Amino acid sequence: MVELINPGMSLFAKKPRGREEDDLFHKAEITNVYPMTATEKLYQIQIIDPAARRGFLFKPGQFIMLEAPGIGEAPFSISSAPSRLGNIELCIRAVGVLTRFLSRLERGVMIGISGPFGTCFPVEEMVGEDVILLAGGLGIVPMRSPIMSLLENRSRYGRIDVMYGARRPSELLFGYQHAMWRQFDIGLKVIVDRSEPGWTGPVGMITALLAKRLAQGERSRFGNATNAIVCGPPVMFKPICDMLLEAGLSMEKIFVSLERRMHCGRGKCCRCNIGSTYTCLDGPVFDYWSVLNLKEAI
Ligand SMILES: Cc1cc2nc3c(=O)[nH]c(=O)nc-3n(C[C@H](O)[C@H](O)[C@H](O)COP(=O)(O)OP(=O)(O)OC[C@H]3O[C@@H](n4cnc5c(N)ncnc54)[C@H](O)[C@@H]3O)c2cc1C
Ligand code: FES
Repeated sequence: MVELINPGMSLFAKKPRGREEDDLFHKAEITNVYPMTATEKLYQIQIIDPAARRGFLFKPGQFIMLEAPGIGEAPFSISSAPSRLGNIELCIRAVGVLTRFLSRLERGVMIGISGPFGTCFPVEEMVGEDVILLAGGLGIVPMRSPIMSLLENRSRYGRIDVMYGARRPSELLFGYQHAMWRQFDIGLKVIVDRSEPGWTGPVGMITALLAKRLAQGERSRFGNATNAIVCGPPVMFKPICDMLLEAGLSMEKIFVSLERRMHCGRGKCCRCNIGSTYTCLDGPVFDYWSVLNLKEAI
């Protein structure tokens, strides 16, 4: 196990803003790192303390704050199944100071995580009903946790559809799991904005997949017993949610994950608020009725 994030400073020697006294803070080890695309890597992380690991209960859609001492801290969605407790998976895109630093790390490095934070996709309340999950781009990362949860309890749900859109085939995430998801009787459809050599799937917007599904005479299956989970860039929320509403879903059964810039992740810094609503506390998952009542949320 390597404890070396910040040369010259022993890990967590200086208590980072009181985190070590915080019940939600855990030292953790990066146990594996897998490159997924040119910019995203999958990190498997294990909470060091066995009791804390077993006690790390989270729900699909929640996030953690990951801290690399001396470098920074940022929110990341938990991408693994809740049944894995304190063995969590994160998929992180290298965009800036912290995430580029993380992209250079290898297994064995110690980090800090705090959480879990935020609201969740209420998959328990969807038991016995159909679920349609629509993810665009990096939205498949928070989406993977409810997908895994639904897979583990497949017989308790009705029809499950996953629609996933990416810019290019080379940017698709979790491609190695797509065949397994289909084996669990999940109707997975993947679409890309722009084709690349070797791609034989559809090209276009994710709304085209949804429109095709609705046009297949299956519209009658949508109704009060269908739930939707939508994750991705805010620009996709309104067109998709409008189509879902038009198809008969109720606003209270459509859930979106609104990811605003966050700093503290725990309601203290006022960086993430939309009016009086804090996306770190009251979100990131909201039902669509609440989203429409949040001014300029989408
Ligand atoms: C609830 C939540 C869950 C998230 N989950 C994931 C995840 O699973 N995987 C993942 O890769 N990222 C996720 N993010 C985004 C992630 O937190 C940021 O990419 C990270 O904070 C960037 O830190 P940095 O120090 O590398 O970038 P910085 O050096 O701080 O910034 C680099 C560039 O990225 C931009 N940027 C930074 N943060 C964000 C942001 N939140 N949204 C848009 N642009 C941003 C900055 O404007 C700047 O241009 C999530 C964000 C939230 C709020
Ligand atoms: S991120 Fe600080 S208040 Fe929400």
